[in-house]
Amino acid sequence: MYDRIKRAFIRKGLEERKAGSLLRSMKNIKPLTGMEVEVDGKNMINFSSNDYLGLSNHPLLRERAREYIGRYGSGSTASRLVCGNYECFDHVEKKIAELSGRQSALIFNSGFQANASLLPALAGRETLILSDRLNHNSLIQGCMLSRSPVELIRHNDIGHLEELLRKNREKDRKKRIMIVTESVFSMDGDQSDIDALVRLSEEYDAFLFIDEAHATGLFGRNGMGLTSWRDVDITMGTLGKAAGSFGAYITCDREIRDYLVNFCYGLIYTTALPPAVLGAIDAAMELIPSMDKEREEMFRKADHLRKALHALGFNTSTSTTHIIPIVIGDEEKTMSLSRWLEKNGVLAVTFRYPSVAVGDSRIRLIVSASHKWEHIDLLIDLLRRWNEDKE
Ligand SMILES: Cc1ncc(COP(=O)(O)O)c(C=O)c1O
Repeated sequence: MYDRIKRAFIRKGLEERKAGSLLRSMKNIKPLTGMEVEVDGKNMINFSSNDYLGLSNHPLLRERAREYIGRYGSGSTASRLVCGNYECFDHVEKKIAELSGRQSALIFNSGFQANASLLPALAGRETLILSDRLNHNSLIQGCMLSRSPVELIRHNDIGHLEELLRKNREKDRKKRIMIVTESVFSMDGDQSDIDALVRLSEEYDAFLFIDEAHATGLFGRNGMGLTSWRDVDITMGTLGKAAGSFGAYITCDREIRDYLVNFCYGLIYTTALPPAVLGAIDAAMELIPSMDKEREEMFRKADHLRKALHALGFNTSTSTTHIIPIVIGDEEKTMSLSRWLEKNGVLAVTFRYPSVAVGDSRIRLIVSASHKWEHIDLLIDLLRRWNEDKE
C-alpha cells in the first residue's frame, strides 16, 4: 500500500556517500606498543592517533584507574546532580583549575557533549555567535542547538573578527555576542592568536569561548593549553587526546560554573563519568606539567616531518603544530594514498566531507611523542616513493 518510504533515506544516503567516494567504515584496531597497532590483523605504525604524549598506556594512568575502581566501583550510578558526584570529581577539578590558573573547573563526559550542550546553555536566539568557519563539528552542533544567529569568521582571521564585532556593536550596543573558536585547529593544525582574541573580547564585551581539544597537554603554562592563566570566559579542554583518558573539562570563574551546574543539560541529564576514567585523568594531571621533554621531542619530530613534506612538494595547509595535513583535494586520490600507506605498514586516515569541505580531502598526520625517529623516516621515505611512482 505504501511505497516503503520509511527507510528509503538510509539507502539513498549510503549510495550518495559511496558515489562521491565518501563512504566511511570502521577498522578493528588493537594497540600494541607505543605508536604500533594491529589493524585488521596487520601491524602498522599509527599516524592518526590523538595520544600526543603516549599517556593512554602509561603505567601510572593504568594503576590509578585500577585504584579508583577499587575505591569507588565501576560506575558512578547517576548524574552528578543526583548522587554520582563522587568526591574524586572535586579533587580532579581542583587540580585542573589550579594547573590552569583559573578559579574553577567542571568535568564533562566528552568534548562533543560539552560543546554541544555548553553553547545552548550560554547562548540563545538573542545572542549573536561569531564562529570560526573551520570550527569542529561539535561546536557547529552547539551553535545550531543554541538557535542563535551565527556569523562565520574567515578562518583564523582576526581582522575579519574585529570587523564583525565593530559592525554588530555599532548596530546594537546591548547585543549579547559570543566568540567561538579553537586554539589549535583540528583539521589544519594551525594556532589562533590568543592575545588578540582576549583583547577583542574585552574591547567589544564579547563572551570568549575557546576549544583547546588539541592544545591541552601540549601548550602553555603547565601544558594546560594556550589559554591557561589567561582571561578567557570559558576554555574547553579534552581528556581523551593528550591526557590519554576520556572526557573533557572547562575552566572558568566560579559564577559561570554555578550557572552551568544549573543550566547545562549535557552535564545535568547524563550519568557521571566512571571512576576508572577519573583515576586516569587524575594521574594524567600529575604527569602533564612535567612533560616538557616529551613536548619538545614531539614538536621537533613534527617540524622535521613538515619540512620534509614541503621539500617533497606536499601541501600541509597552514599547519604549525603536531597536526600536519597532507591536503590532496580529490577524494579518490586521497583514499588511494591512504590505502597505499596502509599497504606499506602506515596507518594514516583520510578526512573527507563532511569533516572538511568537498574537494578539500586530506590525510591528517599526527605526530606523537611516542613516535620513534625511525617511524618518521619510514613515513617520509614512503611519501617520497609515492611521489616518484606518480612521476
Ligand atoms: C576541536 C575539537 N573539539 C571537540 C572534540 C570532541 O572531543 P571528544 O573526542 O572528547 O568528544 C574534538 C574531537 O576530535 C575536536 O577535535
